[in-house]
Amino acid sequence: MPLRVVVAGATGVVGRTLLPRLGEREHHVTALVRKPERLEGVPADEVAVADVLDPDGLAERVRAAEPDVVVDLTSGFSAADRDEGLRRTAELRARGSKNLLDAAAQAGARRFIAQSMTAAYQPHGHDVLDEDSPLWTEAPDGWGEVVRSIASMEEELLTRAGIEGFVLRYGSLYGPDTAYAPGGELHARVCGSELPLVEEGMGLTSFTHVDDAAGVILEFLEGGDPGAYNVVDNEPAECSEWLPAYARMAGGPAPVSLTLDQAKAQLDWLTVHQLTEQRGATNFRIRETLGWRPTWPSWREGFASLFGLWPG
Ligand SMILES: NC(=O)c1ccc[n+]([C@@H]2O[C@H](COP(=O)([O-])OP(=O)(O)OC[C@H]3O[C@@H](n4cnc5c(N)ncnc54)[C@H](OP(=O)(O)O)[C@@H]3O)[C@@H](O)[C@H]2O)c1
Repeated sequence: MPLRVVVAGATGVVGRTLLPRLGEREHHVTALVRKPERLEGVPADEVAVADVLDPDGLAERVRAAEPDVVVDLTSGFSAADRDEGLRRTAELRARGSKNLLDAAAQAGARRFIAQSMTAAYQPHGHDVLDEDSPLWTEAPDGWGEVVRSIASMEEELLTRAGIEGFVLRYGSLYGPDTAYAPGGELHARVCGSELPLVEEGMGLTSFTHVDDAAGVILEFLEGGDPGAYNVVDNEPAECSEWLPAYARMAGGPAPVSLTLDQAKAQLDWLTVHQLTEQRGATNFRIRETLGWRPTWPSWREGFASLFGLWPG
């Protein structure tokens, strides 16, 4: 059945992938954006101009859109400076997402779909974590602020009466126009030998292709039960595996090897954490409850497709 869907963050990487697919299914789409010119041809039935940090303007625009479902794809991570990106994202999760949830509830929306991240799990015990694993709210520095803001957004959403809340915990997003694509931030770091293997390269990453990040939202517009879901591929990978493979496919140099002490002296805390102790996530819950299967089951094919090395 066609639904009325409001998408905040429609100009972002996942938003640009999602909006055409919503249109193909004949949903009525309101793109909620700060600057309409940034939509650049992305199809939407209506464009509503609002900043999620401005609760009054936001509530008015969302009410006018009469949504059945509201999707929050806002993020501050695209800021040029990493610390600024963390600060903006924490603010968006702490205030912006709450404003949007309030606006959605007041407008009578039945569902609210929010994005979270598997990178927020506390590294402990098993290598591959499920949705009941604790988020790392005690993490240091700016990362701790981001995780605390995510945890409080998730709790607010999943306990709010009168609206069904869905939390989609993505892995590291890759695909066209992401940090992993040619010209993206991660691509530049790998090709510039700025991302090393540290010790045994034991940090785990779960990946999510943007096609899957967008596709799963389509599934949850009507299907599934409220709750938190890891939306990741089938193959969490150690850094020692994915980083050399990515460098090879990107045509970059093989990653250099550093000791932990060298890495700590040369890299920021978050990068060292990701390369050495981060854990992966399992998609078991979403496979079992929704029957979801990733279009890109492994980063291996996904990375290859980014560099024209995968057929089709
Ligand atoms: N990238 C990853 O690896 C990753 C991993 C896990 C989860 N996620 C989450 O997945 C979601 C989609 O990510 P993405 O990569 O598509 O994000 P993105 O490309 O960085 O886009 C972010 C979007 O947020 C909008 N935005 C920022 N501040 C806003 C504000 N104050 N009011 C209204 N809109 C605002 C931006 O609009 P403007 O055009 O106005 O700037 C843009 O449309 C995000 O929630 C992100 O946190 C990402």
